[in-house]
Order: sequence, then C-alpha cells, then structure tokens
Amino acid sequence: MKDPYRNISRIYDRFFDSMNMGFKLVGIRMFRPIKGMSILDVGCGTGSHLELYQRYKCNLYGLDLSPSMLNVARKRLGDSTQLDLGDATDMPYEDDKFDLVISMLSLHEMSSATRSAVLKEIMRVLKNDGRILLIDFHTGPYQPLQGWVSKLIIFFSELAAGREHFRNHRDFLAMGGLSALINQHHLKVEKQQVLAGGTFVNYIVSKS
Ligand SMILES: C[S@@+](CC[C@H](N)C(=O)[O-])C[C@H]1O[C@@H](n2cnc3c(N)ncnc32)[C@H](O)[C@@H]1O
Repeated sequence: MKDPYRNISRIYDRFFDSMNMGFKLVGIRMFRPIKGMSILDVGCGTGSHLELYQRYKCNLYGLDLSPSMLNVARKRLGDSTQLDLGDATDMPYEDDKFDLVISMLSLHEMSSATRSAVLKEIMRVLKNDGRILLIDFHTGPYQPLQGWVSKLIIFFSELAAGREHFRNHRDFLAMGGLSALINQHHLKVEKQQVLAGGTFVNYIVSKS
C-alpha cells in the first residue's frame, strides 16, 4: 500500500512540531497522566506527542498506518514505547486495555466511514473509566485575526497533502467536526477547549 507520508515524514516535525506543541500541552493540562497508566496514541505519526508523556512513567503505545512516520517515531522513542504498524480500524489490542487514548489530527484525514470505525475501535480498547483526548480542526467561528491566519495556513497545508486528504478534511468540517462525531458515538464531553482563534479544539471525552 502507498504511504502518503513517505516524502514528508523526515521534515514533518520541522513544520508542525512547534506549531502544534501548544495543543498537546493544553491536552496534558486537561487530563493529567498518572504513573502506570496505559496510554495509546492512535495515528501517532512521528511520536512527538508520546514523547511528552514519557516523563509521567506511563506504559506508552503508538499505532500508525505509515511505515515512514513510524520509523521517525522509533528513532525518537527507542524501546520506551510499543510502536505498532497498523490500521486504527482494526487495532491489535485487547478490549478495555487503555486508561487514555489520544487521537490528534488523524480523524480529519479519514473518510467518514473510517472515522466511525476508528471511534468504535477506540471505545473497544478503552477501559470503562478511561478517557479519550481528541485534538483536531474546529468548525469555528473563526476569530479575527488569529483564526483567519490559522485557517489560511490549515487550508494550504491540507491542499498540499493531496486530493483525498483535502476532500476528507472538507467533509470532516462539513459534517460538524469532532463535536458531531462525539454525538454520533454517544460519548460524554468532560472538557472542551477551543484554540487558535477557533480553528482547533481539544476534547476530553469518556464513555457515557
Ligand atoms: C497529520 S498526522 C498527525 C500525527 C500526530 N498525531 C501529530 O499530531 O503529529 C496523521 C497521522 O495519522 C495516521 N493515520 C491516518 N489514518 C490512519 C489509520 N487508519 N490508522 C492508523 N493511523 C492512521 C497517518 O499515517 C499519520 O501519521
């Protein structure tokens, strides 16, 4: 299967790591990891998000469909993290395994059917009292000036990511983004924070 991240994996962090760091730090403040917790990052990419969780001495897992992104993650995280190559619609983990499942900037690039299948898998591998941290593009309203500038950067980054990626991103926002997905799957919103002038949103959700 073609790896859409093959050409960009080596430079991904140079462009996006510092840009996205703030959202990750807000996510940690919204749900503080505790030593010994099992944490899965779905669509973990280059592993920069999991790296932030290393200091909390949790059991860390990352799953991604892209071999090239996982190669970068392996170099970064070494043996401290179990990294698995696989499709999040069919995760290689048992039921009720994780205290926290993270999905950052992954759902928007999937088709609507894939998104729903991934959400179902996340709920299967999540413990009953577990939490999900979702971070992705938001549907607005977009604030002047920060929101407009951020929206422009997002538009061109998504356009550069290819036709299918761009179509899925447009569909994700048109369908109502994370908020619609959360409602569809009857998840309970515990915390929500809109960021970057209305272009990003962080959610902590649980099974209702
Ligand atoms: C935009 S990147 C975000 C990476 C990382 N979460 C971050 O915030 O830097 C999206 C990632 O989701 C992965 N992905 C997309 N669809 C997937 C699927 N069905 N199963 C697993 N990973 C997937 C891609 O390979 C890519 O690494």
